[in-house]
Amino acid sequence: MIHLIGSGGHARVVLDSLAALGLPAQSIAVFDQNPDRIGGKIGSHTIQGFDAVQLSHSSVHICIGDNRARANVAAALEEVGCTLRTIVDPRAIVSASATIGAGTFVAAGAIVATGATTGRGCIINHGAIVDHECVLADFVHIAPGATLAGSVAIGQGTLVGAGANVLPGISVASNAIVGAGAVVIDDAADPSVYVGVPARKVERR
Ligand SMILES: CC(C)(COP(=O)(O)OP(=O)(O)OC[C@H]1O[C@@H](n2cnc3c(N)ncnc32)[C@H](O)[C@@H]1OP(=O)(O)O)[C@@H](O)C(=O)NCCC(=O)NCCS
Repeated sequence: MIHLIGSGGHARVVLDSLAALGLPAQSIAVFDQNPDRIGGKIGSHTIQGFDAVQLSHSSVHICIGDNRARANVAAALEEVGCTLRTIVDPRAIVSASATIGAGTFVAAGAIVATGATTGRGCIINHGAIVDHECVLADFVHIAPGATLAGSVAIGQGTLVGAGANVLPGISVASNAIVGAGAVVIDDAADPSVYVGVPARKVERR
């Protein structure tokens, strides 16, 4: 049994991957803490409420796009003995020499190249490229169509926005945001927001 936590758009993507992997619907349960969603439907699944204790020692996958929220829920569930389940869509390309951290999701069309490493609880979204020898810390999100060139390092909790590019060997700090479409050509050392081509640091609102 796999317990999906979260029932928004990202959960729909994860459910699509589980279907592609051939998991029967009966072996999937969907949970959310948002009272507005509990009792509603996502696909054929009724969304259930939960508290961490109820799910203790379960196999869980956190389907929450927001990095901080995903990390917080993961910490609460690991505290009660849950294991973070990794999901790799069969339509993704993952090198045999790549390392995918526990609880990470790799979406359809994504590429994780040779020698690349993702941390725990990351999202490598549709069509994203994590090229050779990149190192991603925990709870990073590489959004749809973003490209990390070779040997890029991404710090914990950082979002690389849709269609952004990070040039070879560049490091991006923890808890940063690379805006959609940005091209990062220098190290991004602060936990700030970086937008544009070439990317420039802007104040976080
Ligand atoms: C960068 C980002 C985080 C800024 O969001 P925000 O803090 O709400 O900022 P605002 O939308 O108020 O924009 C602030 C300024 O930055 C500019 N800006 C925002 N996003 C930008 C981007 N991606 N590229 C260039 N400029 C951008 C805005 O035009 C605005 O400029 P102004 O002050 O001259 O008017 C957001 O626009 C973004 O790109 N997020 C990535 C989303 C994404 O890819 N998610 C993946 C989901 S799967």
